[in-house]
Amino acid sequence: MSYYELCNEVAEAIQQAVSGLIGKQAAGEMMRIGADGTPTEKIDEVAENAALQVLEADGRSMRFVSEELGEKIIGGKPEFTFVLDPIDGTFNAVNNIPFFCVPVAIGDSDISDIRYGYVKNLVSGDIYTAEKGKGAFLNKRKLHVSSVSELSGLSVISYSHRPHAIPINNHNVRRVRVFGCAALELCYIASGIFDAFIDMRSMLRVTDIAASKLIVEEAGGMVTDGEGNRLSTPLDVTKRVNMVASNGMVHDKLLELV
Ligand code: IPD
Ligand code: CA
Repeated sequence: MSYYELCNEVAEAIQQAVSGLIGKQAAGEMMRIGADGTPTEKIDEVAENAALQVLEADGRSMRFVSEELGEKIIGGKPEFTFVLDPIDGTFNAVNNIPFFCVPVAIGDSDISDIRYGYVKNLVSGDIYTAEKGKGAFLNKRKLHVSSVSELSGLSVISYSHRPHAIPINNHNVRRVRVFGCAALELCYIASGIFDAFIDMRSMLRVTDIAASKLIVEEAGGMVTDGEGNRLSTPLDVTKRVNMVASNGMVHDKLLELV
């Protein structure tokens, strides 16, 4: 089974398992604090269990890194690390706001060595994929980042509260939006719909961004931390990072602002 088929099987199992929970109050019931240090809600638990069932039946040995359970070694000798956020955009899903997804990244030990990225929009069914060195795709159509190069023309997704405000607003760029699902928002940078994504809250986890980081890079974009360094962090759900992702043409100007 290819990486694509495995990711697809996991995403379909999750989609089926959570279908009766979208927009339901019961979906948001708090079960416990997850391994990532944030609450695990009912829908997160149902989604993760559905994924685990598929992965355990796959037959290959892997290290499973997931937001709620943290880490689980499946089999005796892991061939790769399967990084999953069972649902990215839990708040949206629980409240029937149609913007949430399943992101999967496949790599070894660090976000910088991810070799396959997969993001499925659970509302539209759109699938974004990227393989290192082979480009990024939306439903098999090749993706490319935008070519806007002036700050005043930028469409930016910016999480700019906590711990400090970032001076990116409707005065210095064309538009600012926040949709509440980082993995999918980053796919909008890869698609060229938005020009940049900024999150300086020190809250992003590898499970939120590992897949989409590769998708943005393979679409010709640039991804760094707030200082302009290449992102590097272990595939560990307790770690937090800042992120600036862009079409590459405006990256330096954005780094100056943040
Ligand atoms: C959330 C989304 C959101 C980001 C939050 C995350 P979750 O993920 O990725 O875009 O701003 O920091 O918690 O909790 O819904 O998987
Ligand atoms: Ca999640």
